[in-house]
Amino acid sequence: MTRLPWILCCVLLAVAVAAVEAETEAQSSYIVHIAHSHAPRPCRRRLLARAYYASFVRDTLPESIARPAPRVFYSYAHAATGFAARLTELQAAHLESQPSVLAVLPDEMLQLHTTMTPSFLRLSASSGLLKASHGAADVVIGVIDSGIYPDGRASFTADQSIPPPPTRFRGGCVSAPSFNASAYCNNKLVGAKFFHHGIIEAAYGSQLDATEDSTRSPLDDNGHGTHAASTAAGAPVPGAAFYNYGKGDAVGMAPGARIASYKACSRKGCTSADILAAFDEAVADGVDVISILLGAVGKAPKFYKDTLAMAALRAVRKGIVVSASAGNFGPGEFTAVNIAPWILTVAASSIDRWYPASVVLGSGKTFTGTSLYAGAPLGVEKLPLVYGGDVGSNVCEAGKLNAGLVAGKIVLCDPGVNGRAAKGAAVKLAGGAGAIIAGTEDFGEQAVTTPHVLPATAVTFAAAKKIKKYMSSKEANPVATIVFHGTVVDKGKMTSFPRMASFSSRGPNLRAQEILKPDVTAPGVDILAAWTGDNSPTQHDSDARRVEFNIISGTSMACPHVSGIAALLREVRPDWSPAAIKSALMTTAYNEDNKGDVIKDMSTGKASTPFVRGAGHVDPNRAADPGLVYDAGADDYISFLCALGYTPEQIALFTTKEDPPVDCSTRTASVGDLNYPAFSVVFNSPSGEVKQHRVVHNVGSNVRATYTASVTSPAGVSVTVKPQKLQFSAVQKKQKYEIIFAVHGVGGVAEKYTFGSIVWSDGEHNVTSPIAITWPGSQVAAM
Ligand SMILES: *[C@@H]1O[C@H](CO)[C@@H](O)[C@H](O)[C@H]1NC(C)=O
Ligand SMILES: *[C@@H]1O[C@H](CO)[C@@H](O)[C@H](O)[C@H]1NC(C)=O
Repeated sequence: MTRLPWILCCVLLAVAVAAVEAETEAQSSYIVHIAHSHAPRPCRRRLLARAYYASFVRDTLPESIARPAPRVFYSYAHAATGFAARLTELQAAHLESQPSVLAVLPDEMLQLHTTMTPSFLRLSASSGLLKASHGAADVVIGVIDSGIYPDGRASFTADQSIPPPPTRFRGGCVSAPSFNASAYCNNKLVGAKFFHHGIIEAAYGSQLDATEDSTRSPLDDNGHGTHAASTAAGAPVPGAAFYNYGKGDAVGMAPGARIASYKACSRKGCTSADILAAFDEAVADGVDVISILLGAVGKAPKFYKDTLAMAALRAVRKGIVVSASAGNFGPGEFTAVNIAPWILTVAASSIDRWYPASVVLGSGKTFTGTSLYAGAPLGVEKLPLVYGGDVGSNVCEAGKLNAGLVAGKIVLCDPGVNGRAAKGAAVKLAGGAGAIIAGTEDFGEQAVTTPHVLPATAVTFAAAKKIKKYMSSKEANPVATIVFHGTVVDKGKMTSFPRMASFSSRGPNLRAQEILKPDVTAPGVDILAAWTGDNSPTQHDSDARRVEFNIISGTSMACPHVSGIAALLREVRPDWSPAAIKSALMTTAYNEDNKGDVIKDMSTGKASTPFVRGAGHVDPNRAADPGLVYDAGADDYISFLCALGYTPEQIALFTTKEDPPVDCSTRTASVGDLNYPAFSVVFNSPSGEVKQHRVVHNVGSNVRATYTASVTSPAGVSVTVKPQKLQFSAVQKKQKYEIIFAVHGVGGVAEKYTFGSIVWSDGEHNVTSPIAITWPGSQVAAM
């Protein structure tokens, strides 16, 4: 193979990129990670780096497999080292066999994880973190998502008083026919770029230049990215609402922070090559926080196959906080994605406002569900009620419902197959008067709110079962109506809050069980924030409505809250590492609801566990003064990867050119020894003992603080902390401790998991970490 000196990056001209062949059927997209010694010097001229890699590929492939010619469509220098290209399977395999190539990963489709919240989080302009940080004006939040829709969106206007962004930020806005950068960008929206080669390749194969495509613009054609950006850092908008729902002042968590939008997803989807390109650019631009609200479809990949995890570590080592959504694959266990320890993984929970809508049956029985239907209400007169299964489609699929049997009636629809909004749209299309959307059994108490296009409400599985029973009773001529109650701010009468969303993805961590995931929870149910003018609030094509604000749910709505809060912390604590910011958010999180009970899980109605809520619900004001932090840096994460048994080639995917070669044999720490602000212990036999080590750093104002440990032991375990007191001083800012988990008694416990906590307290700060114990027999079968 030929080695091109790196100097060629800046002299070689872009001759190679255009070698497009006709016969590309057998090619697909790959991300190729290159050994640092073979990478071109990072330069801002991406075209040159692409040309470098194109000739690298040409020179590497033997003549026999050189056709169809590979085509390089991205180069990466900041979030990864390497490129994305169209290759045949044989070409990919040959490249992977080269010593200069660390890994060749297929480009994969990723999935987007689909305001009143400041007061819920007790953020106040007159005191606490928001005041101290001045809304984080020196911080740039990079949102990697579906772009941004600034036109007519007050959330992205810049007050005259906002100064230009910090000079270290080198990003900017690009224009497109649908995106006038000079009209849309300002001192609030400081960046808007798009990355679409991956999706264009996936959608159209060889057509690198698909013209007239909505992917060719930073404009958000989905809504997700606009919603996220305004949740994190939207400017205050008085009287914001979705129709009449949720009316109030909408404002982002960090109202002074700047937004840089990196569009890597569109209605067509997202690919990992585009996400990596967006990451690469965001790191090069110098953002301070990256918010990422998407992830693998299905199981979390192993870290050395997880493009997001690799990119995130590159970002974190530059001091960038990376927060990511845990996914909406709950309530099953091991469903969380974005679970690398350097990522701040966010679960979703409810707030104190909701949108009840009741089904009133002919029998007089009432079942309260939720809805954001905004049109003319149904009358008090009850209408005939039919089950979708009796009129053509139990799940209410469009085109399958029998209009003759549906017209003028209310249709009960089963969950699954199509989306909730689509079910409503299908009933409307068939001439139905209303719809009741049943929940799934595993979602328990949660009925998911939808901005329906006809009078419709979502009810729980249990309620739907009772409604069905009423419908099948012999003498009944089933009738019903739906009553919409508008916005209800619950002072604790109806339900408790926060409660964990059923959809929120859960731990344990599929790839490193000793690292507790998710990390924290934040508001992610029925969140009001800005929306695109290029998609309907239901994201359904038949819905012609366009709105400035929309109310949606998902861990994607939770994560930008945490990104915004991280921006506030970055502003007041500029010297803190991403791990320290994460530690502060975790150890100060709260675990009790408004009634003083452990935060409940909507899927069970019972107390949630740390595998659902992580260290608890974020509490921004307390996070600014956590007392102690559990810090960690790139070297600790490399030790962690060594402890996972990764090969030198796999580990090289996470290091940079500047790093000395990694020798895992000199690193003896276990996975559980990573300096994490939470404990997850796996007992492989019913008797035994696990020791873990931690270092805490005093960041409180009292340099001479003394902290004492108190432990709530998980059932079946005795926990010993050595030493039990930590004395800090002006010179001794860090202290180590050891924590020993020993099976108590014989044979452990009957449960799969038991939980406890450890609190270090100096009388002024409580530094709390959850403890999760996994007992034998409950390990995931096929890791
Ligand atoms: C873009 O916006 C600027 C500022 O509002 C305006 O002067 C310019 O004409 C617009 N360009 C286009 C192509 O619409
Ligand atoms: C710390 O925890 C203790 C015990 O739960 C509690 O009494 C105390 O108020 C807490 N202190 C702070 C500052 O939160």
